[in-house]
Amino acid sequence: MIYPVTVFGDPVLRKHAEPITKDFEDLDGFIQNMFDTMYNSDGVGLAAPQVGQPIRVFVLDTTHEEDDEPAGIKKAFINPEILEKSGDEWVMNEGCLSLPEIREDVLRPETVKIKYVDEKFIEHIEEYSGFTSRVIQHEYDHLEGVMFVDYLNPLRKRILKNKLTAISKGKVIPKYKIKVPGK
Ligand code: NI
Repeated sequence: MIYPVTVFGDPVLRKHAEPITKDFEDLDGFIQNMFDTMYNSDGVGLAAPQVGQPIRVFVLDTTHEEDDEPAGIKKAFINPEILEKSGDEWVMNEGCLSLPEIREDVLRPETVKIKYVDEKFIEHIEEYSGFTSRVIQHEYDHLEGVMFVDYLNPLRKRILKNKLTAISKGKVIPKYKIKVPGK
């Protein structure tokens, strides 16, 4: 099942998402739907608040990225906690399914060490770098109520203001279904 994607202006994107427990109903189904929604919109990552759920779950698939070194991963991260960010910051032009038609340069550190549980609630601690690390940091931000436009300088923010307002009013038509705030 493909969910509509929440966009800028939806309060769920500004919440601190809550951990889930083992009794979460049909977690496997929810995660499958998250992947389906992500692939349908050509995304490489998707966080639960982007489908209207203020819970600590995100999925990503970086296995199809060219030039991705080290190799990408396809994985669901449940109740993640970033333990450490390290390495030099580097710039990448980022996009976000909740910010259709906006792309901006964002600085993020190279490496991330993350603790999470998988679908069976088995705990893992792993370290990632490169593109996968970047996607992890971007999706993790969604669980903290942070979006990449928050990192822009005041001038860039001012330039984007009208575009952001248009998004929050549903005046953008991406190729995937969105949920317009308040509707
Ligand atoms: Ni995003």
